[in-house]
Amino acid sequence: MDKLQEARRAISAIDAEMAELFVRRMEAVGQVAQYKQEHGLPIFDGAREREVLEKGARRVTDPALREHYARFLQNNMDVSKDYQRRLLAHDAPLRMELGSRSYDIVIRRGCLKEAGSLLDLDRKVCIVTDRGVPEGYVRTLAAQCKAPVVVTVDGGEANKTMDTVAAVCRAMLEAGFTRRDCVVAVGGGLVGDLAGFAAASFLRGVDFYNIPTTLLAQVDSSIGGKTGVNLAGVKNMVGAFWQPRKVLIDPDTLDTLSPRLYAEGMAEAVKMALTSDAAFFTALEQGGLPVEQVLEGALRIKKTVVEQDERETGLRKLLNFGHTIGHGVEAAAGGALYHGECVALGMVPMCAPAVRARLLPLLEKLGLPTRWEGDKAAAWQAMSHDKKSTASGFSAVFVDRPGEGCVKQVTFEEMKAILEGAWQA
Ligand SMILES: NC(=O)c1ccc[n+]([C@@H]2O[C@H](COP(=O)([O-])OP(=O)(O)OC[C@H]3O[C@@H](n4cnc5c(N)ncnc54)[C@H](O)[C@@H]3O)[C@@H](O)[C@H]2O)c1
Repeated sequence: MDKLQEARRAISAIDAEMAELFVRRMEAVGQVAQYKQEHGLPIFDGAREREVLEKGARRVTDPALREHYARFLQNNMDVSKDYQRRLLAHDAPLRMELGSRSYDIVIRRGCLKEAGSLLDLDRKVCIVTDRGVPEGYVRTLAAQCKAPVVVTVDGGEANKTMDTVAAVCRAMLEAGFTRRDCVVAVGGGLVGDLAGFAAASFLRGVDFYNIPTTLLAQVDSSIGGKTGVNLAGVKNMVGAFWQPRKVLIDPDTLDTLSPRLYAEGMAEAVKMALTSDAAFFTALEQGGLPVEQVLEGALRIKKTVVEQDERETGLRKLLNFGHTIGHGVEAAAGGALYHGECVALGMVPMCAPAVRARLLPLLEKLGLPTRWEGDKAAAWQAMSHDKKSTASGFSAVFVDRPGEGCVKQVTFEEMKAILEGAWQA
């Protein structure tokens, strides 16, 4: 018994010392948080965490303790990240800063249920969704609206058309919508693109809110203001830049997503990381990132890019990485592949070999395709009609080093050769 008391006294004394050290450590963590905020750096830094764990492993020589010490360090780092998040008020929304078109991007579990207090729904609200979106999400939103009008369209790229936009606008006309009323998209990127375009067009523009419910839409398409539909089989041929008034991202809505749809969303996150943030790419390779961190990592990149180039005259083209060939594959596959899967395939041939050697295992791990054996002639046909091509060729995005995407001009012949040589073993 005495021995137990003695050991406990020793532990208490050590705990007291550790409490003091903990306070000092958190003071330093606070300084790190401040630095990261000032320099726009993400809270999670995979390279730094690895370094801390490696150093730690060298400090503890007893192999029986080393593994436990690594867990202790990891817990410390997790607590530090929580503290940093609190300090930087990361529960507060991200904000897209675009002057008079600025808006908040709320990322919070359960925020769909708070839509009534987060959005101005005290007016006529046209809720646009598609048949594949679980009805419960629309019901939850509609219950918080004063005058909801729900328009449920057929899903699939073949229905992302002017006719569908016209159907949404007609529903608003019939319900007597005015310029003070609004449109809310509840669904994936498809619903967001077409509802946003309807909002941009109806009465020359009404308020638009986006509540994305696929991972692809949450990490990418719901912010940035690109809206539009396909025309004559050409993707996103008609559209408008129309920024939402607010974006609500509720990761709980991903619970109903199929693994395949989840994976295609991850493809867009990988795209952001490869073009703009090497540490984020490494973190994705390591796996195990909570979805909130994936969302935040990707959205911060997109936000920074859009803020600098809202109308895609330069920097924003980076985010088309994987899309030049991806759009060709998407058209040629005739609906058999999801957009994100095509982006995954489209990224592969645009990377330097060393980057590709890291990208391929990551795509495989995420359940994304790495090879396509479809009709390259049909893909080329679609690519040559891509609205981003010019008389002399394409502005295409290449990644020679992770985090450093770069836009280069390539001729039609060069692009065709890249497509011909793509996905070879
Ligand atoms: N505007 C942009 O910046 C931008 C960027 C990337 C992609 N896009 C567009 O986004 C579209 C692709 O978006 P997507 O991948 O989200 O596809 P999608 O919108 O077609 O959704 C895929 C499927 O998931 C279903 N779904 C949606 N939410 C669900 C949920 N929570 N649980 C279960 N099922 C759900 C839908 O009904 C649909 O059947 C393409 O049209 C693409 O062009 C736009």
